[in-house]
Amino acid sequence: MGLDKERPQLIVNGRRIDGRAPDELRPIEMEVGVLKNADGSAIVSFGNTRVLAAVYGPREVMPKHVAMVDRAVIRCRYRMLSFSTEERKSPAPSRREIELSKVIREALEPAIMSELFPRTAIDIFIEVLNADGGTRTTGITAAALALADAGIPMRDLVAGVAVGKVDGVIVLDINKVEDMYGEADMPVAAMPGVGRITLLQLNGVLSRDEFSQALALALRGIRKIYELQKEALRRKYVSTTEEV
Ligand code: CDP
Repeated sequence: MGLDKERPQLIVNGRRIDGRAPDELRPIEMEVGVLKNADGSAIVSFGNTRVLAAVYGPREVMPKHVAMVDRAVIRCRYRMLSFSTEERKSPAPSRREIELSKVIREALEPAIMSELFPRTAIDIFIEVLNADGGTRTTGITAAALALADAGIPMRDLVAGVAVGKVDGVIVLDINKVEDMYGEADMPVAAMPGVGRITLLQLNGVLSRDEFSQALALALRGIRKIYELQKEALRRKYVSTTEEV
């Protein structure tokens, strides 16, 4: 690919390019209820990747013909803002954004009790404010919080993280450089309480053993992210209840 000349060494003395251990997450921040005009919202950062999610609904479906008689239609739009990348991104939806919108919707759908709201729509908007790898999994994590904040009944929260193989080592929560120059990247999302994986993609090649190791590492990371999600919801709702 001609990239090899500039390819950075990704693991030095057992540490990654940003100083993390292979099984270490980036610093994570979560805040729920950040937008006044959305029914639910959340902002989530994994290191320099920062994503805002907003949810509207259940609400009347427009156009009417897309309504479903037995459940709510769930729509999702993932977008990278023009200023979120190093090279300005065109505001027109790219093929990648259209695909990721679908992948993210499918990762969230199993958690939403859409059967409770026939003939309505639930709209999920994911805006990438700053991209540094893992925007789809950060988007899923933020959207699950925004859905809960909107009061939409859910089977469980959904949390996500991408694992990868860099310089032969399986690592947790890959950043953009590791995504670009690593041997494999594997975004995973799951409902930890229910024990169900809702997203699993693999770009690159892993042996059977590496795959098992990577999946186990992802699920351990997801458990931690899930605990942080619950804390973020408690921070908003417990303090609001106390004020009342
Ligand atoms: O973000 P995610 O890892 O889910 O998806 P990706 O398609 O594997 O992209 C990896 C990273 O490349 C993104 O997080 C961005 O940092 C970067 N990227 C970019 O800067 N501009 C694009 N048009 C696409 C990706």
